[in-house]
Amino acid sequence: MISRREIIDLLNCRDPEIISDLHRRAADIKLRTIGPKVHLRGLIEISNICRKDCLYCGIRKGNTLCERYTLTDEEVLTCAKHAYAAEFGSVVIQGGERTDSIFTKRITSLLHRIKRIGDGALGITLSLGEQSAEVYKDWFEAGAHRYLLRIETSDPDLFRKIHPDDGYHSYERRIEALMDLKSIGYQAGSGVMIGLPWQNTQHLASDLLFLKEMDFPMIGMGPYVPHDDTPLTIITNSDPGASFPSVAERLELSLKMISLLRILVPDINIAASTALEALHPKGRIMAIRAGANIVMPNITPSDYRKYYNLYDRKALLLEDLDLGEAEIGFGEWGDSLHFNKA
Ligand code: 5AD
Repeated sequence: MISRREIIDLLNCRDPEIISDLHRRAADIKLRTIGPKVHLRGLIEISNICRKDCLYCGIRKGNTLCERYTLTDEEVLTCAKHAYAAEFGSVVIQGGERTDSIFTKRITSLLHRIKRIGDGALGITLSLGEQSAEVYKDWFEAGAHRYLLRIETSDPDLFRKIHPDDGYHSYERRIEALMDLKSIGYQAGSGVMIGLPWQNTQHLASDLLFLKEMDFPMIGMGPYVPHDDTPLTIITNSDPGASFPSVAERLELSLKMISLLRILVPDINIAASTALEALHPKGRIMAIRAGANIVMPNITPSDYRKYYNLYDRKALLLEDLDLGEAEIGFGEWGDSLHFNKA
């Protein structure tokens, strides 16, 4: 096992040999525990309309410069059929948070229709924010079996600093939603952002121990990538106390976090986050080599992709699926071994 002290020391370490050893150790644990394969989730970004106002996020409600879109049912189904034809095994439907019943009912009906593709062949993950337990249940019954909801940071004070104090953004509410997802029976995925303003390696060590403690079978963690049209960028530009690590440092920290998590909880699914690719063209391959086993290729129709800017990721528009030497589990759901054991 690895202690909190060791985790912090490794997060602070700048010695390339020690860092490579850490990645090798994690890759080896992954190979022995869950095998060599990487599983795919075709990512469908259904809409960038959001009721939340997270200070770091480009699609926050208050960003008037963000042009809003919502895919039609037909567009979502075309994406899902594409994922099926390409043998991706699973899709993720992700979007801004909307809790009105027009939206939640529409998702339920879409789930039924996606389930009919290939007679239930596609695994479905949702990532649509905080919803009532009833809505989570409806969606589960309609065929979604995995749900992604990041805690963003396990530190309640830091959570408060990166979210507005308007009564709609609460750490406790986020935890409650995660508990609801688990008790309904979802494979619940969570995760954090890495390299945030005010965040230090003690916070990150606490994040890792929190994610282990909460026993999530899937984790997606990625670097913070500033977006120009957000309040957090304005704050960090004017307040020297709110500085954050460089691109190279955030990349290094993110890869270390993946390796440390793999060592702490060997049999979970860990995503090579899309945000990594915004920092380095080979970001996701690096993440796989550091211990990740899930990749979410974006299959949103290309006309819409430019509007789904959670962070500044112009480089991503050219993305292709180059996963280097990784062996891909085509046509498989790739559920978390950890969840199946539980
Ligand atoms: N940088 C990195 N990740 C971000 N997200 C939102 N905005 C940013 C950003 N500026 C992440 C959050 C959210 C997920 C969908 O995208 O962690 O949970």
